[in-house]
Amino acid sequence: MASAVEIDAMRRALQLARRGPRGLNPQVGAVILSPAGDVLAEGHHRGAGTPHAEVDALSQLAPGAARGATAVVTLEPCNHTGRTGPCAVALLEAGVARVVFALDDPTDAAAGGADRLRAAGVDVESGVEADAARLLIRDWIALQRTGRPHVTVKWAQSLDGRAAADDGTSQWITGPDARRDVHARRAQADAIVAGTGTVRADDPALTARADGGSLLDAQPIPVVIGRSETAPDAAVRRHPRTPLFYDTHDLTAVLADLGARGVQRVFVEGGPTLASAFIRDGLADELLVYVAPVLLGGSRLAIGDVGVPTIDHARRLAVASVQTLGDDLLIVAGPANTPDREGDA
Ligand SMILES: NC(=O)c1ccc[n+]([C@@H]2O[C@H](COP(=O)([O-])OP(=O)(O)OC[C@H]3O[C@@H](n4cnc5c(N)ncnc54)[C@H](OP(=O)(O)O)[C@@H]3O)[C@@H](O)[C@H]2O)c1
Repeated sequence: MASAVEIDAMRRALQLARRGPRGLNPQVGAVILSPAGDVLAEGHHRGAGTPHAEVDALSQLAPGAARGATAVVTLEPCNHTGRTGPCAVALLEAGVARVVFALDDPTDAAAGGADRLRAAGVDVESGVEADAARLLIRDWIALQRTGRPHVTVKWAQSLDGRAAADDGTSQWITGPDARRDVHARRAQADAIVAGTGTVRADDPALTARADGGSLLDAQPIPVVIGRSETAPDAAVRRHPRTPLFYDTHDLTAVLADLGARGVQRVFVEGGPTLASAFIRDGLADELLVYVAPVLLGGSRLAIGDVGVPTIDHARRLAVASVQTLGDDLLIVAGPANTPDREGDA
């Protein structure tokens, strides 16, 4: 059983972990406790190629200072030699007597650290604050499992399902509360994606902004997909992060490349053609639909061909939440594995 001091140390380690960047490696934090339960050192991982959290913490201590200590770590100490040596070995060499960690390492290459420590006589405890640790790195875990980032497809539509007026103008269908919500969600993504059609029509900045227009601290990488050239003076080229341009319609390949760059969460902002393609290809994990109480009519449907030739192939969704934002509605939904439904007729 973990002690109250160890649980507190784990909560502190989770805070430390958040200081690290989201990317190819997970965010991990570590706290070294003396046998009496005093904090000897703290550490966190600062991204691929830099020391892991345990080693970062140990490096602050004089040789021998961690003998008999307890290492509290948010992820199982790794057991493999990448750009840095195995953390399990570093802990053994430091003479640590006990290791408390939150989550088992989900990667085959790095797992086994706990067994190695136990085999060497270290007292090892796992699962402490595991839910919080899992939540912190859930996108990274999903990326290890699927090889691609989590994809949210967002659009704003009129009550009659249009994404733009007949002449193509679409700013602004929704009100300020909905737009604020979009910007906050953009800031939580690692990349914002738009098609060349939207870049041509709207010249979006693809930045995450506060109410007054100032940039939020977190700025996802802007990504443009499509074979047409983006104009040299397009607003996206002035984004604080270097934009990525993918001259292809192969969305699986785009996501694989983004995943290989450590992008864990993608926010697709349309337009209708690209959003439909993500859905059609089965790559949309979450849909965010902002519905405004306005009618636009005309031909500019919010969503086009999603590969549904007949009602038997309808893409059934499970609604996760419905929320009112000012005058607008936000519906959050995801793919549902529902059995066939009977027709309404
Ligand atoms: N209401 C909203 O939420 C919202 C959001 C965004 C935009 N809009 C509106 O939508 C309109 C633009 O719509 P749009 O459909 O032309 O824009 P879009 O979806 O941004 O861009 C479509 C283009 O994306 C490229 N593309 C990349 N991958 C593709 C794939 N797998 N399949 C098909 N095409 C792919 C193609 O361009 P290439 O020919 O270059 O390959 C295609 O012509 C504008 O009126 C804009 O104001 C509304």
